[in-house]
Amino acid sequence: MIRFRRLRKEQWIRDLVCESSISSYDFIYPIFISEEITDQKPYTFKVYRTIDLPAILDKVSEMKIPVIALFHVCNKNLKDEIGSYAYNSKNEIYKAIKFIKKYYPDIGIMSDVALDPYTIHGHDGIIKDNYIDNDESIKYLCRQASLLIEAGSDIIAPSNMMDFRVKSLRELDQNIIIASYGAKYASSFYGPFRNTLGGSNVIDKSSYQIDIRNSNQAISEIENDIKQGADLIIVKPGMPYLDIIQRASHEFRTPIIAYQVSGEYFSIKTSIENKILQNSTWAESISCFKRAGAKAIITYGVFDFYNSLK
Ligand code: PBG
Repeated sequence: MIRFRRLRKEQWIRDLVCESSISSYDFIYPIFISEEITDQKPYTFKVYRTIDLPAILDKVSEMKIPVIALFHVCNKNLKDEIGSYAYNSKNEIYKAIKFIKKYYPDIGIMSDVALDPYTIHGHDGIIKDNYIDNDESIKYLCRQASLLIEAGSDIIAPSNMMDFRVKSLRELDQNIIIASYGAKYASSFYGPFRNTLGGSNVIDKSSYQIDIRNSNQAISEIENDIKQGADLIIVKPGMPYLDIIQRASHEFRTPIIAYQVSGEYFSIKTSIENKILQNSTWAESISCFKRAGAKAIITYGVFDFYNSLK
């Protein structure tokens, strides 16, 4: 007689038969960098100057988190129409990458390739005749990527969703690891990230990010990114798109990375703070990615997760 509860009776038997587990090696931790720090607004992330980085990087190495994902919070008066500061080596992200490579050589650095931190309009590319021009944007994005590679990035992560971005970056550099946002949706879950960058959180990116109603399109896009030379594929957001993570991890052998984005993070965090949800929600929200087939997880919640286990 089948009785499922035999394998659920004690913790040790549940641990023995569990089908997925979480280790610190599964995590990629996002860090925001800026040339100057202003007061932190509610529901935004902490921002670091390069000289302040040891405070967080010591924790990252102590926890054996293999990779950090860097994002730049660019000073407002350095932003312009074409995101010039993205490819200026005075840029704080350039300085930060050099610093990290020098003092924390064992931590992998993933750098975002997109112009939104640097453009006044907050789009990831260049606007021409009221449209985000694909090929023009690619030219500027390649300049940004060259700078990020030159500074010492180990992984570049084109989140800009222009067509042929992976092909162009692969032509630029044969050795760099490309983690492509193969499936990045035009999602409403990016609000706290955009607020941290100082832009509008209601900007419409649906002429380049994937329509939330689609799944086949995401799979085709991932397939194409792999053909163009992507080594890793990021699916973003995470929890609302577990179907894509599961499909992609079955259809492709390229490792899939789940990105639990800012809106997901703060939804869980504020619910726990307000006692609507319990602390174990962290473990559940991260386990689901491993169960769906993700090899790694980008999440702001790494430390919240470890604190919830104490
Ligand atoms: C932009 C970028 C975004 C995020 C990562 N890179 C926002 C956007 O596309 O507008 C969102 C991440 C998050 O919400 O945590 N290239």
